[in-house]
Amino acid sequence: MVTSRLARVCSVAVAIGLVAAVTGAAWVQEAAEPAAADKKVELPTPVRKGTVSLEEAIQARRCVRQYEDRALSLAQLSQLLWAANGVTGRNHRFRAAPSAGALHPLDFYAVVGEGSVEGLAAGVWHYEPADHEITRLKEGDDREALARVALGQRQVATAEVVIAVTVEFERSTGKYGDRGRRYAVMDAGFAAENLFLQVQTLGLAACVIGAFRDTEVAELLRLPEGYRPMLLLTVGYPKANPVR
Ligand SMILES: Cc1cc2nc3c(=O)[nH]c(=O)nc-3n(C[C@H](O)[C@H](O)[C@H](O)COP(=O)(O)O)c2cc1C
Repeated sequence: MVTSRLARVCSVAVAIGLVAAVTGAAWVQEAAEPAAADKKVELPTPVRKGTVSLEEAIQARRCVRQYEDRALSLAQLSQLLWAANGVTGRNHRFRAAPSAGALHPLDFYAVVGEGSVEGLAAGVWHYEPADHEITRLKEGDDREALARVALGQRQVATAEVVIAVTVEFERSTGKYGDRGRRYAVMDAGFAAENLFLQVQTLGLAACVIGAFRDTEVAELLRLPEGYRPMLLLTVGYPKANPVR
């Protein structure tokens, strides 16, 4: 009798404790991340059928260095990131671009200005392929600063969005040794070309930027230890009457 009453009291106490723990955890989470909604943005579902053929995109692709002052849509940014590194296979190891051993040593960051992408705050956004979402790692417009460390190239400052492709070599060298470095660089080339051709199909224009100071770009983007910037892709609407 006493034992069963004790058991009842204990189970009620455990239940109350559980509720408190659950609600407590929710409060803790809210307090720790007040701007969670702003920091993480779910991207629109990318389309799988466009209006410009692959052949037309290849034929028309050129490096364009002057852009209109015209915002991209979030759907366009979504499409670009998906083409570069989106999940297209049965699990997150199978992506839009090939990668040696499906190890995917690349990361993609979008450097966005104020009003550059409709509905998106300025900042440095990191793409997460598994959830097809972006997370803001840094607030503010860094395009001018990025242009300075890219040896003053103006198209970096005037593009609506600059997409930075980074490599963490250890993801490849862990399996392939030194040869993994070669594979990782090739991975970056495949992904960047996907991105470039997708730019073309959306009526946008881009330029590949390989000339920049690595350490300063890494600092500016606040890249984690071991991440190296490989290339930047400047993206915007091509200027109707470019200055020659
Ligand atoms: C790895 C690589 C790095 C490049 N770096 C730069 C750069 O820093 N600045 C620039 O204006 N163009 C850069 N380019 C673009 C080339 O200059 C361009 O592709 C070349 O002139 C051919 O022109 P097209 O792309 O219009 O065919 C780079 C291209 C590649 C592939």
